[in-house]
Amino acid sequence: MNEQKREVDGQAVTASIWAGPPSKATLVLLHGFPMDRHLWDAVGEKLAGSRPIVAIDLPGFGGSGSDDSVLGMPETADWLTRALDAYNIDTPVILAGLSMGGYIAMEFAARHCERLERLVLCSTKAESDGDAARKARIEMAEAVDHIGIEAIAETMLAKVLARSTRKSRPSVVQRLREMIENVAPSSVAAAQRGMAARRSMLERLPQWELRIDCIAGEEDSLTGPEVMQRIVDAASDAALHRIPHAGHVPPLEDPDAFSQCLRQIL
Ligand code: MLT
Repeated sequence: MNEQKREVDGQAVTASIWAGPPSKATLVLLHGFPMDRHLWDAVGEKLAGSRPIVAIDLPGFGGSGSDDSVLGMPETADWLTRALDAYNIDTPVILAGLSMGGYIAMEFAARHCERLERLVLCSTKAESDGDAARKARIEMAEAVDHIGIEAIAETMLAKVLARSTRKSRPSVVQRLREMIENVAPSSVAAAQRGMAARRSMLERLPQWELRIDCIAGEEDSLTGPEVMQRIVDAASDAALHRIPHAGHVPPLEDPDAFSQCLRQIL
């Protein structure tokens, strides 16, 4: 793996790149909230050499800069086309997004379908937020500065990790805690505002002539198999794959099972 920096819209962008046969479509990996590209480190290592793989930091996260106060899903999907160009990545690509990365991946499919070979969605949903969820996001965006990122990390860890991960894989808990605590409060706020404003993709899914593979952690209390099945039911060509001992972040909680699943899909 090597880390490469580029500039997009006057801001730094950072990606982890694993080389692979250029004849194969590049696998582009988008992390969730509030994480960064290192979410995919173990998966990238396990799949290294099979095809070109790029895990990219979204604006405001990891090594990618941003001074926008809203990380809009459509704007970020458009930004991704410029980031792919900056890294000279041939399209169509295989785009895989986890949770917020999945929201952006679906916007990318809605706006730039011709640049996609297929879509892999992990721990995500197609519906927009209801009023209560939207309100909670705006509250977090407004409060993050005085709550502090450590408290946000504590809340997120309890929500996103499977009970089995919290009990028996302390290094995973620590890794995710460090990743979240590394995020600037302004990026937490921007992402929450962007996700609160996102539109539903449920009605658009049937229109896409695109293979969609969904991966769900069986212990995910946010977007488990039942939630992801709704994407499969709506899409024209889709399947659901389950990771048994994982919650909302299977690439971190069980990279072996997740990579094996991705290998079989691709
Ligand atoms: C994520 O993991 O990206 C978040 O759970 C997305 C969300 O808050 O909806």
